[in-house]
Amino acid sequence: MSHAIAFDVYGTLIDTQAVSARLAELIGEKAPAISRAWRQKQLEYSFRRGLMHDYCDFAVCTRQALIFACREAAVDIDEAAVELAMQAYADLDAFPDVRPGLEALRQDGLKLYAFSNGSREAVERLLRRAGILDYFDGVVSVEDVRSFKPDPQVYAHLLRVCDLPASKVYLVSGNPFDILGAAHAGLRTAWLRRDPKAVFDPWEIEPDVTVANFGSIVETISCS
Ligand code: LAC
Repeated sequence: MSHAIAFDVYGTLIDTQAVSARLAELIGEKAPAISRAWRQKQLEYSFRRGLMHDYCDFAVCTRQALIFACREAAVDIDEAAVELAMQAYADLDAFPDVRPGLEALRQDGLKLYAFSNGSREAVERLLRRAGILDYFDGVVSVEDVRSFKPDPQVYAHLLRVCDLPASKVYLVSGNPFDILGAAHAGLRTAWLRRDPKAVFDPWEIEPDVTVANFGSIVETISCS
């Protein structure tokens, strides 16, 4: 029985840095701090909605988080600027090492999935635009179970789609909370630590492997 690898999307396959650059054009010097707060709040809103069983499209979390982050920083952002920032989120590129990495993994006969909090439509569009959609056997969105990472239900749904036991499925993610959620659900995990200063949560679980770039995923996962 072969293995499957599921990849988180935002920050793992797709480089979200360009959103900060766009935000700087729209709101100026407070953009770096607001970008960080935006991402934190986006995730917090998804966690809260998961706990409250109040699912919505992830784009709603993203939009509301941006408005919150701006208000908190006392920065005025009008509706048109919110739209432009959201558009930047929809038009992101893949990290440069992703395409060659996916190419190599496909040659190893592994099944590959994109697995995201984003809606299927948003993720398919994003990956198509980035020129990497065709590498995947499927896009698995949390919208199918109307909850968000790290709810165990969304990882169980991923396993159903992969049609493999948890021990045969890896999650590759740049997000420690996602790695913890996947490991908690029994999956194997690879933390993509692109930033050497990134800190993993001090939890009772650690990633099975930690890699610094996509090329290392190829070496580490396909051989183990
Ligand atoms: C995703 C976010 C969590 O793509 O990065 O699911």
